[in-house]
Amino acid sequence: MKINKISKLKGTIIVPTDKSITHRAIMLSSIASGKSYINNYLSSDDCFMTVNAFKSMGVNVEDKGTSLIIEGVGINGLKKPSTDIYAGNSGTTTRLLSGILSGQNFMSVITGDESLSKRPMKRIIEPLSLMGADIKAQGNNFLPLSINATGNLKSINYKSPVASAQIKSCILLAGLYADGITTVTEPIKSRDHSERMLKAFGADVCVDGLSVSIKQCDRLYCQSIDVPCDISSAAFFIVAGLIVPNSNIKILNVNINPTRDGILEVLKQMGADITLSNVRTMSGEEVADIEVKTSKLNSINIGSSIMPRLIDEVPIIALAATQAYGKTVISGAKELKVKESNRLLAISSQLKQMGADIVQTEDGLIIEGGKKLNGCIVDSFKDHRIAMMLSIAGLVAEGTTEILNSNCVNISFSNFYEVLKQLCR
Ligand code: S3P
Repeated sequence: MKINKISKLKGTIIVPTDKSITHRAIMLSSIASGKSYINNYLSSDDCFMTVNAFKSMGVNVEDKGTSLIIEGVGINGLKKPSTDIYAGNSGTTTRLLSGILSGQNFMSVITGDESLSKRPMKRIIEPLSLMGADIKAQGNNFLPLSINATGNLKSINYKSPVASAQIKSCILLAGLYADGITTVTEPIKSRDHSERMLKAFGADVCVDGLSVSIKQCDRLYCQSIDVPCDISSAAFFIVAGLIVPNSNIKILNVNINPTRDGILEVLKQMGADITLSNVRTMSGEEVADIEVKTSKLNSINIGSSIMPRLIDEVPIIALAATQAYGKTVISGAKELKVKESNRLLAISSQLKQMGADIVQTEDGLIIEGGKKLNGCIVDSFKDHRIAMMLSIAGLVAEGTTEILNSNCVNISFSNFYEVLKQLCR
């Protein structure tokens, strides 16, 4: 994809709906009793991995275009898939599904693409093994995962070393099947969509500070869920509106769950003109319209305490920092090395190539802002969030920026370039 420098961005847009919420809605609907409706589900490569996984275990999923109708098979109604479950690029599918599969009474195997096969799974294998699951993995850490489930899980009280919603959710989903009460405690609170949605489906979930507990469950109740738009997708256009001159962008129906809104806090601290309106609740999640105007940004320090609230937004925040006045230091971001790509490496190497003053540290980035970016050939590392960040960088870089491997935007935001075009008119 080739992107040229632009003089303004204007308009009102709708970005795709939330990936995390869609994955969870598909999973819980599949093991609930009765017919669930997932309205405005995210139709993207990652979410189709989750849909296909449950179809292969006997769940009837009807795609009505903007909504999915899922006939839940009940908490113990999944059937052994006849082949391996392919999770593609999706860490959320793999890690959350592993929790559910551990509670079944059949053997299953999860495989994935090249990137997913390099991502660490020990973080879920360890707690699931403590619960009694028998899981084999390449080098005890990598896909394929063979889950030899016997229908005998015991509850645990687990202190997670990493603030990760995927680990937390995996344990909570396994906890549905474990006798007694399963508790998981995080070092810093991560996104809480699983807790919210499990409660809505009727699970007995208790949140106490950084700990979440769940009771073994006999039945989940089907729901109708309206999925709000994804703040992680909105983030690219929020920053675009701030750094492209003469811009004014409104993004409708964005999820502003307080465990996800770190980017708004950081950008406002940097001096961003961001206004939220029409704040409301949609299927148990806070939602608002977000308006941004071109702003003079200042540098900021971002540390580990806010990291889980903006974990997927670091690439685009780093771009904002290249256009801000002063030195931005991002630390406590080691997790970025094990995302869809090594994001610390991808961000620093590609933005440096465009002329940014940016260095990678052991657990973050140091960015000296105010350097002009120049269009050149850059690579997405086949990582959707890197491709979209580099595309926004192209809007402020002199000349033309060519992003290699840009079709990976399909992982979460298949119409990214069409939405961008709407704002360029
Ligand atoms: C996600 C959790 C985060 C995030 C990912 C989606 C989820 O991962 O980066 O894109 O839906 O639970 P970690 O749990 O590994 O931090």
